Amino acid sequence: MTILVAGATGNAGAQVVHELLALGQRVRAITRNAATARLPAGVEVVEADLTRPETIPFEGVTAAHLLASAGDDYAELLTGPDLLRRAEKAGVRRITLVWNGYRSPMEEAVTAGPLEWTVLRPGDFMSNSLAWAESVRREGVVREPFAYARSALVHEGDIGAVAAAVLVRGGHGGRTYALTGPEALSVPEQVATISAAIGREIRYVEQSEAEARDEMLRAGRPAEFADVLLGWKRDMPAEGYTVVPSVEEVLGRPARSFASWAREHADAFR
Ligand SMILES: NC(=O)c1ccc[n+]([C@@H]2O[C@H](COP(=O)([O-])OP(=O)(O)OC[C@H]3O[C@@H](n4cnc5c(N)ncnc54)[C@H](OP(=O)(O)O)[C@@H]3O)[C@@H](O)[C@H]2O)c1
Repeated sequence: MTILVAGATGNAGAQVVHELLALGQRVRAITRNAATARLPAGVEVVEADLTRPETIPFEGVTAAHLLASAGDDYAELLTGPDLLRRAEKAGVRRITLVWNGYRSPMEEAVTAGPLEWTVLRPGDFMSNSLAWAESVRREGVVREPFAYARSALVHEGDIGAVAAAVLVRGGHGGRTYALTGPEALSVPEQVATISAAIGREIRYVEQSEAEARDEMLRAGRPAEFADVLLGWKRDMPAEGYTVVPSVEEVLGRPARSFASWAREHADAFR
């Protein structure tokens, strides 16, 4: 069977692809730009855009991994009903959907739709910490606001492994899984963990919210995106910091820790 993966060039989607290949599945990855997409050998790469459902190659696909947001500004996808109609018509039976932090129109469409659906609600990805790599390499510093806030960071490899298990094995229809790592950590604790992994001191400097916002705007992030992200971090909902056992329940092994993520990615910070 062929499994379609949206977001296959992204942090979590790349892991979905990796895990599906490890399970011996045929993978069709969609991207808006096949020329820049670097996907593993054996993956069928098709140019398509979730905002234009007619471009999504559902033919011959039995299960699909979809996103709730699209575009470089992570705007919410409003094409859900059309996407699901086309998927059903093509014979797709199973869908996994990665949420974008709230119950989005895409999540409404998937959970109201006719296909066997599973919604994955990951908290902050551990890979978000890669945004600190440059300032750690150059100055040995991490600048972030909200030192008090703890987040139950999830390893993106665990998101991929859960999505692949659900898509291939089934048995999770109609379920919504929050996905977290094994512990909730503050930014200073994350910084100390990376510091231990690279064997070098890293200084944490607490930014004001305004400084963090300015930095995001200078980096080209839309104001709305910056405000949503800062709002999430400032007043994190319980889903963001509450550790849950769903990774272990689905996979039969514990969720991976931030310490192991930091060791795997140590070279990015050296
Ligand atoms: N990062 C977090 O902490 C976090 C937490 C919870 C949920 N999420 C959600 O998880 C999802 C995946 O996050 P990520 O960090 O893995 O993403 P990412 O690395 O930023 O990559 C975004 C992916 O979305 C694809 N994409 C964007 N617009 C598209 C469109 N119009 N049509 C088809 N594909 C499109 C991109 O593909 P191409 O560029 O190749 O077209 C890329 O593969 C996002 O929707 C995000 O909102 C993230």
